[in-house]
Amino acid sequence: MPGTSPAKLTVAVVGATGAVGRTMTKVLLEKQFPMTELRLLASERSAGKTLTVPGWGDLTVELATPDAFEGIDIALFSAGGGTSKELAPEAARRGCTVIDNSSAWRMEPGIPLVVSQVNPDDLAAHEGIIANPNCSTMQLMPPLMALRDAVGIERMVVDTYQAVSGTGHKAIVELEEQVKAHAEGRPKVASVYPYPIGFNALPHIDVFLDNGYTKEEWKVVTESRKILHLPDLRVSCTAVRVPVFMSHSEAVHVETRSPVTPAEARELFAGVPGVVVQDDPANKVYPLAEHAAGSDLVYVGRVRQDPSIPDNKGLAFWVVSDNLRKGAASNAVEIAEVLVARGWVRKASVRAAVAGGTPA
Ligand code: A2P
Repeated sequence: MPGTSPAKLTVAVVGATGAVGRTMTKVLLEKQFPMTELRLLASERSAGKTLTVPGWGDLTVELATPDAFEGIDIALFSAGGGTSKELAPEAARRGCTVIDNSSAWRMEPGIPLVVSQVNPDDLAAHEGIIANPNCSTMQLMPPLMALRDAVGIERMVVDTYQAVSGTGHKAIVELEEQVKAHAEGRPKVASVYPYPIGFNALPHIDVFLDNGYTKEEWKVVTESRKILHLPDLRVSCTAVRVPVFMSHSEAVHVETRSPVTPAEARELFAGVPGVVVQDDPANKVYPLAEHAAGSDLVYVGRVRQDPSIPDNKGLAFWVVSDNLRKGAASNAVEIAEVLVARGWVRKASVRAAVAGGTPA
C-alpha cells in the first residue's frame, strides 16, 4: 500500500473516555506524536462532555459516526469489537489509517497484526486497518522473537495473571469497591465478572469456546502464530484474572529447537529493544506488576532451565508488562510512529482527492 507521511496529522482516539483510550491520549502526548489536531470520539453516553488534555485544553468528546472520520489521518480505536467492526471500515473508506485495539480484525487475512519491535515490516501491506494484538500476546512477543531468531521455538505454554484494568474502567472500580467491602465486613458484589475478583483468581477471561479454552487463551495461540510468522507453533495457554489493578504477569515455558542456557537466553532477551531483564533472585530481583505499571517496557526474569525437557531445550521464565501501555496504548502509538517514519500513513485528504472526492 500506502503513500505519504504527511507533516500535519489529524489523529483521533475512538473510545477516548475508556481506560485504554485515556492511556492512548496520554501516550500520544508523552511521545510528542506529530499531530496538529487531536479528536476524541466515544459513544452517545459521553458525546458532548469535555475532557481536559494537557496542552490541548478542554476537548469536547464527539460521537463516533462514519462521517466523524472525514479528514482524520490516523484513528486509534479502543471501543470494543462491535464498534471496530462497524466503524473501522468506514474510517478506512474515508482515507483514515485505523490502528485497532479490539479483537475484531486481528486474525483477518491481509490485516497486519503488529508488535512494533517484532514485525513492523508487516505494516507495509496495510490497506487502512491495522490490528493491535491482545495484551497478553503483546508482551510475550519480544522475548519470544529473540528465541525464535536464535534457537527456534517448537512449543510454548503460557499461564497468565491478568490485571482488571484489561476489562476496562468499570472493573477497576469494582475491585476497589470489593476491597473496601471486605475491609468493612460487607459482602463483595460482583457485576463485571461472574464472581468477585477481590481476593480471588478467576480462570475465565472472555467467553468459553467449544474446545474448552477461553477466547482470551485462544487469542494467545492464534495471534502468536501470526505475529511470529510461525503458523505451526504449538501453543497452550491458561488465562487467569487476578486482583491486580495494573500489569499482566505471565509464566512462560518454551521448548526450543536448539539448546539454550538461561544465561544465553538472558542475553538474547536483553538485546531486544524495549525488553529489560530483571533476574537476580538471590537479591529478590524479578519483574513485578506494580513496578511495571506506567512503563512501556517488557520485563523478563526468573529465567531458568525447564528440566522436564531434555537436552537444554526447555526454558521457563516470567514476563511482566503494563497491559494498558505496551499491552495496548503504547504499542498502538508505536505503530503510528513506524507508519510516520516509513511514510506509510494514508493521508485522508490525498486519498479522498485521488478517489475523486469520495471516500476511498
Ligand atoms: P463511552 O464513555 O461513551 O461509553 P472501557 O473499556 O474502559 O469500558 O471503555 C470503553 C470505551 O469505548 C469508552 O470510551 C466508551 O465510550 C467507548 N465505546 C463503547 N461503545 C461505543 C460505541 N458504540 N461507539 C463509540 N465508542 C464506544
